[in-house]
Amino acid sequence: MNILINRLNENMETLRLNRMRVIFENYVAKIEKEKISFLEGLDYLIEEEKNYKKETSLGMRTKIAGFPYIKNFEQFDFNFQVSIDVQSINDLRTMRFVEAKENVIFLGPPGVGKTHLAISLGLDAIRNNYSCYYMNCHDLITSLNHAQHENRLNQRLKQLCRHKVLIIDEIGYLPIDEQGANLFFQLISKRYEKLSIILTSNKSYGQWNDIFGNTAAAILDRLLHHSTTINIKGESYRIKDKKTQMSQTRKIN
Ligand SMILES: Nc1ncnc2c1ncn2[C@@H]1O[C@H](COP(=O)(O)OP(=O)(O)O)[C@@H](O)[C@H]1O
Ligand SMILES: [Mg+2]
Repeated sequence: MNILINRLNENMETLRLNRMRVIFENYVAKIEKEKISFLEGLDYLIEEEKNYKKETSLGMRTKIAGFPYIKNFEQFDFNFQVSIDVQSINDLRTMRFVEAKENVIFLGPPGVGKTHLAISLGLDAIRNNYSCYYMNCHDLITSLNHAQHENRLNQRLKQLCRHKVLIIDEIGYLPIDEQGANLFFQLISKRYEKLSIILTSNKSYGQWNDIFGNTAAAILDRLLHHSTTINIKGESYRIKDKKTQMSQTRKIN
């Protein structure tokens, strides 16, 4: 019996059946006690292993995506932000936009939930087995600039095209020089009609000239050709929290 258990252990390790390896000894005892059939037992162990692998892979791919925080659609209060058309969000959640290589752009003032929604959509993409990568716009342009200086821009652009969904957050919060705008354009062109981008910006399209200068038109032309824009008009959720806190403080006083 011991030889059998040892060999099973070794084989499960070789085959990386990690969840099975942890639970099987106790489960064997249960099988014997409750007279569970071989088929039922095998089915249980394989189901456990499958679910564990799925969870681990989900966790790993979420980590690789590099989100600044984890929040999903269930945590978003659509009643607070009534300007958002829930039907459009549900359409996006079907992932048709990823298959069609289209872009999604969340526009609106600070605190209205642009980053939250972009992350939620990214998490949905990961759950649907698409790879996703998050960068804020400033870090992205800095990294493209570095790559350019080190003569490995093409390599960096290729890396950024490995993911089915690329989230570029906070466009327009910091100024971008001509070189930065040009590098950004190259990335957009490389993904154009091949891979999706989710963008967020606090500036309306009319103001993108102030961000990207003369390159704005060319960038917008490619970005918007196949895209959905979610224009969020409303109050900041952060301020709502502040207001609630303030009114509570007033009550206490
Ligand atoms: N409608 C909402 N329901 C729940 N939480 C929200 C909502 N809008 C924003 N938040 C929360 O408020 C904070 C700011 O939202 P965020 O998405 O970062 O704003 P921004 O539009 O500036 O990117 C986050 O913690 C986010 O989860
Ligand atoms: Mg944000």
